[in-house]
Amino acid sequence: MQSRLPASINFAMQSEAGEGLHVAIIMDGNGRWATRRGWRRVAGHRAGVAAVRRVVERAPELGIARLTLYAFSSDNWRRPSLEVQSIFSLIAAYLRIERERLRATGVRLEAIGRRDRLPRLLLREIDACEVATAGGQRMHLRVAVDYSSREAIARAAADLVGEGGMQSQEALERGLAAALDAAVGNVDLLIRTGGEKRLSDFLLWESAYAELVFTDRMWPDFDETNLEAAVAEFRRRERRFGGVPTANTETATVAADSERVAAELSAEVLRTP
Ligand code: FPP
Repeated sequence: MQSRLPASINFAMQSEAGEGLHVAIIMDGNGRWATRRGWRRVAGHRAGVAAVRRVVERAPELGIARLTLYAFSSDNWRRPSLEVQSIFSLIAAYLRIERERLRATGVRLEAIGRRDRLPRLLLREIDACEVATAGGQRMHLRVAVDYSSREAIARAAADLVGEGGMQSQEALERGLAAALDAAVGNVDLLIRTGGEKRLSDFLLWESAYAELVFTDRMWPDFDETNLEAAVAEFRRRERRFGGVPTANTETATVAADSERVAAELSAEVLRTP
């Protein structure tokens, strides 16, 4: 995906050429999927883990180099404690069971979000999985747990200001981009399942130029073909990063037009009493 902007102002807008895509997924609809079947919500989360496995397996083959999954938002603490504990247990189980497969297939696992409120059992599995898969080169899998994008932005800004006193806006933006991207770059494609069309405090800074794909499909039903379809939809879209469709032959005409408009405007301004 080539940007038409000068490199100097392009620092935070797109993934580097040849790096592969960064796809982020808001995995929504587990609860509805289960209750529609007359089951408890946790059954939906369990089925959601199977969808995670399908997607992680297929993603590298589709040119996805970075995959960020929204597993538990900081707002999810408002849910009944039993559901919260079940989600943590499922994430821990996934990390334990899949650790060796992730390592063997070159997937590097990283958890993003706050760690200070997570149960010890989950922290142990996160640490073990991060250590075991640290050498993975094929795909960087980030699981967002107790994550809030606003909180991450505020924390990064506070760190930067604390470090260097008041900074220029440009220095602050560059520092924020560096801190928030943390070597994974911007989101190219953001997918949300479950029919809702909102970002829910997920990767707000990193998704500034992301293409958004919303699907009514509930997360437990999401599979490889749905991921392929979303990536195909992304590839059909033209990413302009605020520029124009093409640097084409219109340029000369546009320049002449704007000179004429500017001349007319100055004539108009000069006529004003
Ligand atoms: C949103 O659906 C889903 C969650 C808050 C939990 C997501 C967790 C998993 C898929 C399981 C574990 C994840 C990993 C990475 C192994 P919802 O409950 O809000 O659904 P609803 O909108 O239908 O109520």
